[in-house]
Amino acid sequence: MTSPEIAPLHEDLTFHGPLSEERAARLIRSLTPLDHAHVVDVGCGWAEFLLRTLEAAPTATGTGVDRDAKAIAHAEAAAEARGLTTRVSLQAADVTGWRPARPADVLIVNGASQVWGGDPLHHTANALTEARKLLAPGGRLLLGEGFWEKEPAEAQLAAMPVPKAQYSSLADLVDLTHTHGYRLLAVEQANQDEWDVFENGHALAWERWLRENPDSEHAPHVRATADTQRNYRLRGWRGTMGLAYLTLQAP
Ligand SMILES: C[S@@+](CC[C@H](N)C(=O)[O-])C[C@H]1O[C@@H](n2cnc3c(N)ncnc32)[C@H](O)[C@@H]1O
Repeated sequence: MTSPEIAPLHEDLTFHGPLSEERAARLIRSLTPLDHAHVVDVGCGWAEFLLRTLEAAPTATGTGVDRDAKAIAHAEAAAEARGLTTRVSLQAADVTGWRPARPADVLIVNGASQVWGGDPLHHTANALTEARKLLAPGGRLLLGEGFWEKEPAEAQLAAMPVPKAQYSSLADLVDLTHTHGYRLLAVEQANQDEWDVFENGHALAWERWLRENPDSEHAPHVRATADTQRNYRLRGWRGTMGLAYLTLQAP
């Protein structure tokens, strides 16, 4: 049985995460100075954040890497349409062991600490270690990372596929970055509207497909996937799981 062609997320979402355009613009400003900077985005998806950063900084260059070749193809088309191809390299590759051609003055790891693999309980710490290897001395890291916005109740934990120990409080997350040698420059967090837009984007693609393909052999599987995700969301992480945006100064 081949997989059904569900519309890619970029058809319904601007960013692959709970992020408004207003917050994205503010996060980009938090990364200044960007003059002549090299900006590297690992797990960049369709690279909307990287492309906007380069548009805001006309002398900056960028590299984006993601193992999803379709997302990279979409990013390349967007770069072409926005006249950015001479300043950006977009690579379809696994980040494990990957190194940019030039160290990053600014590194973006947004919703992507898992790209280096390993035990999910150590994804954040592992990403903070790996990021130091890609950053130039004195560079800045934008880390978009999960945390417990509210202590999840037992019933909520039981309804989501995430162990409590995978995330901490926001204060403990920031402390962890400091134990890895970073200093916090700015912190903000996704609000409920940003989360809802993001989660609705996932659900929309599945529900639209089900509406258009009610008799497909794939329909039971797609319906089950959508139902599982809705259960995770509404009985699990909605209101408990946060997404922090940390702008960090590397040593
Ligand atoms: C939640 S998305 C975030 C995308 C992007 N940072 C954004 O905010 O729009 C995580 C991304 O990590 C990518 N990814 C996961 N594991 C990877 C790996 N080992 N190497 C490269 N990319 C990976 C996925 O393909 C996906 O695009």
